[in-house]
Amino acid sequence: MAKTDITADELRDLYLTFFESKGHKIIPGASVIPENDPTVLFTTAGMHPLVPYLMGAMEHPAGTRLTDVQKCVRTGDIDAVGDAAHLTFFEMLGNWSLNDYFKKEAISWSFEFLTTKLGFSPEQLNVTVFRGEGKPGEDGYIPADEEAVAIWKSLGLPDERIFRLPREDNWWGPAGTTGPCGPDTEMFIDTGKPKCGPDCRPGCSCGKYIEIWNDVFMQYLKNEEGKFVPLGRHNVDTGMGVERTVCMMTGAPTVYDTEIFQPIMAKIDELRGAGEAPGSALDAGEVLKARRIIADHMRTATFILCDPKGGVKPGNVGANYVLRRLIRRAVRYARQLGIAEGFTVTLAEVICEKYSHVYPELKANLEQCRLDLEAEEKRFNATLDKGEAMYKKVAEQLKAHGQSQISGKTAFKLYDTFGFPFEMTCEMAAKDGLMVDKEGFEEANRKHQELSRTTSAGAFKAGLQDNSEVVTRLHTATHLLHAALHQVLGPTALQKGSNITAERLRFDFTWPQPMTAEEKAKVEELVNGWIAQGLDVTKKMTTVEEAKKEGAMALFGAKYGDQVSLYTIGDVSKEICCGPHVANTKELGSFKIVKEQSSSAGVRRIKAVIGNLG
Ligand code: SER
Repeated sequence: MAKTDITADELRDLYLTFFESKGHKIIPGASVIPENDPTVLFTTAGMHPLVPYLMGAMEHPAGTRLTDVQKCVRTGDIDAVGDAAHLTFFEMLGNWSLNDYFKKEAISWSFEFLTTKLGFSPEQLNVTVFRGEGKPGEDGYIPADEEAVAIWKSLGLPDERIFRLPREDNWWGPAGTTGPCGPDTEMFIDTGKPKCGPDCRPGCSCGKYIEIWNDVFMQYLKNEEGKFVPLGRHNVDTGMGVERTVCMMTGAPTVYDTEIFQPIMAKIDELRGAGEAPGSALDAGEVLKARRIIADHMRTATFILCDPKGGVKPGNVGANYVLRRLIRRAVRYARQLGIAEGFTVTLAEVICEKYSHVYPELKANLEQCRLDLEAEEKRFNATLDKGEAMYKKVAEQLKAHGQSQISGKTAFKLYDTFGFPFEMTCEMAAKDGLMVDKEGFEEANRKHQELSRTTSAGAFKAGLQDNSEVVTRLHTATHLLHAALHQVLGPTALQKGSNITAERLRFDFTWPQPMTAEEKAKVEELVNGWIAQGLDVTKKMTTVEEAKKEGAMALFGAKYGDQVSLYTIGDVSKEICCGPHVANTKELGSFKIVKEQSSSAGVRRIKAVIGNLG
């Protein structure tokens, strides 16, 4: 029988002790803010801080068999938080072989731990393995992981519970754009529910099979050309999510119903007191979603603010911006529930209480965390108060005149002058039975950006979006524009100059004649497509030579230092640049060329704008 009353504390202990008994050293988890990796904003997996050792670039002082529990932050799906499963923070248990043991030991120990320590019956276990790619002898061929299959069979797993899946399912890594990676074997527990259909198998989202563990066999390296080459080492990287495992074993309907979240959810309910904000009529689903978002975001924000490495504060760029978004989203949802100011600190205290025996940094850094939360909550609440008051005036006037639509211009004014998020105007209007002219808002936004080129950036200061944030976003937009011009006009459309203000970007490039309407439309379409794809923007430090070898664009004749930052956007753009840039192209909203004109002989000039964040 699986241990149905397990807690996160017990799970951590069971895991670490088990692997210690197999010759592993228990090492402390790393900072959630990466120490030496500028390509990512946060530590996203247990293997991440171990990359130099997995690569063989350094020997780990604790040896070649390691185990730990790692704090991870993944904010790529921040908008999905509020459902039953998505979290922006989680703990990952892991064990590693640094060129020591390989598949046989890793898989056998996984099986032993699941069946003897967690108490699952072998019949509940289903696994997936990598089925291979390409044909022998051809470029890009990677063989199927028959070795893993044979090991599972030797442990008694029948063929029908071993699923051979493609790279989308059974391959892990690299964590950034390049690095160690390899086939994995994922373990799923069959909950006993009926199959949802004939194709139901591990990986199906119906809830019959729940993934519990992932053993990654890091025997390949993804190089800068995007090819998988043998790493020359056989590493093992495994990962088991604490929250998900506790949830599944205890039979809790969602992670928020486990003992892990219980004190946080209970405090939120206590703060809610009698219920929602006056005038807001949330249905049960909306209340649930708001509670989950507040709990998730405050847990993540507290861990970031208390991190021993420190240095991440609510702000407008990179990790700082992610932290600000987390706190501000929590504040918005707390207001919906009628929770009074000061809740961010109260919840941080509860989170600290729950976790500080495992993560002493929470207690050690709580004071600073309190100050940062208090300041950010106050700042954002003041903005929202003003905005809400203005919104109410608008709504009353409309009603008095028997009208039912907030014009785009008015919504834009609320946003631009009072910093009131457009999203909130829409939410409040929906509750008041009013409509909002969304297209009109976009239009007003665009016009404003075109017309106010010369006005100071002061207007932006009122809002969530301040001057430096807009500039950051326009920086990234410039890289996308450059890449799109290369695709549409060809490699001779080269950057001659770039200038960015809070309202627009300006980009000069070599091109002998005016662009056609078709060319301009194609460029806009490409850039907007990349924005919609939500491509990650990563940065790494390298030399100019290395960057050029990777095919990076650099300004001809420009002087660069020994080390340069190389910014990569998905597989669309690579440019040497000082930044700053957004973390993901989604943050740009939309892109539009407002002018294309001559700059000097043989040089064209584009002016372009991006949409505002709602
Ligand atoms: N790195 C792998 C994962 O994140 C296993 O630890 O799933």
